[in-house]
Amino acid sequence: MMAAAMLVGCAPKNEGAVQEKSFMDLARARFAVREYSQQPVEQAKIDSILEAGRLAPTAKNIQPQHVYVLQSEEAIAKINELTRCAYHAPVVFLVCYDTTLVWTKDGENSGNMDCSIVGTQMMLEATELGLGTCWVKWFDAAEVAAAFELPANHKPAFIMPCGYAAEGVQPHANHFSRKPLSETVTYK
Ligand SMILES: Cc1cc2nc3c(=O)[nH]c(=O)nc-3n(C[C@H](O)[C@H](O)[C@H](O)COP(=O)(O)O)c2cc1C
Repeated sequence: MMAAAMLVGCAPKNEGAVQEKSFMDLARARFAVREYSQQPVEQAKIDSILEAGRLAPTAKNIQPQHVYVLQSEEAIAKINELTRCAYHAPVVFLVCYDTTLVWTKDGENSGNMDCSIVGTQMMLEATELGLGTCWVKWFDAAEVAAAFELPANHKPAFIMPCGYAAEGVQPHANHFSRKPLSETVTYK
């Protein structure tokens, strides 16, 4: 029993028993970062974040997402003009879905849902890599699409600033407020 507990704590990643523990650690460690250092994000880390998104499940496995990586000086300046919530991060992921591909049922399409799963996986991978992120919906999708000359079928779902947190950044007080499961879960 003791040996098993030690193994769980020490086993390398991706080995059965340790997976849940390390996922929960990540879920607990993540918080919305709204102040960034200008230290560039390594391409290998960007690649890994994009790969985590690529592995996400989507409705019917259609994979309607399209991720724009904003990182040029011009693109970063532009997104900061369009929203106050890009927070001058060195990288901003603009996550869109292709309106011609999304799965549609009863008048609703899966685009936002698919992108949210992609984004969540990206966010947690960024956390694992020591990077901060913030999920951002505070922008005008039509304005962003026009400014970045997106194809008409690419609809922005959200943006995600990403980078190393500025020194001393702490989670907002909000972060520590989570409802108890008794308020949000019902067993039937
Ligand atoms: C769908 C969604 C939209 C959000 N939009 C914004 C936003 O526009 N600007 C912002 O600063 N934070 C935004 N957030 C971040 C939330 O405010 C934040 O995740 C929440 O307060 C919990 O704090 P935590 O992430 O530090 O745990 C958004 C989060 C989600 C999930």
